Amino acid sequence: MHQSVLFVCLGNICRSPLAEAALRAECAAAGLNIIIDSAGTGDWHVGQAPDERALAVAARNGVDIGHLRARQVTIADFRDFDHIIALDNQNLRDLTEIRPAKAVAKLSLLFDHVAGRAGEDVTDPYYGGDEGFDQTWTEVTAAARGLRRLFEDG
Ligand code: 4NP
Repeated sequence: MHQSVLFVCLGNICRSPLAEAALRAECAAAGLNIIIDSAGTGDWHVGQAPDERALAVAARNGVDIGHLRARQVTIADFRDFDHIIALDNQNLRDLTEIRPAKAVAKLSLLFDHVAGRAGEDVTDPYYGGDEGFDQTWTEVTAAARGLRRLFEDG
């Protein structure tokens, strides 16, 4: 069985689609076959494509995420995924609250997979400018490298 990972932020239109894209690119380069998805704790943007600025930063880095559509995290996700990875501490708290007793998924914070940055938030770039999205891309790319090692080790 392939390992699976779900990235979760607030709206599923900025940070978690970029984390999904970065890990997809990393796994493609490494020849790793992993099931990767993303979702939001909130439902405001369900069905929408990623934010224009997220589309743009992904494109600047050679990745097309135009096919992605936002969805809200579900209780079934805790059964269906091996790992659920929150982009910030508020997302992690919200996920911990809805986590069912029989959850399969291991919950963690994205930055817990980056050496020396455990416990940090991936800052929400939604209310800022393009430079915030460049920072998000840098951060999710660093985490994707850490996650690649996690999956390669089994
Ligand atoms: P995301 O960014 O959680 O990284 O997708 C946000 C997107 C939308 C909102 C907040 C954050 N919003 O309030 O609508």
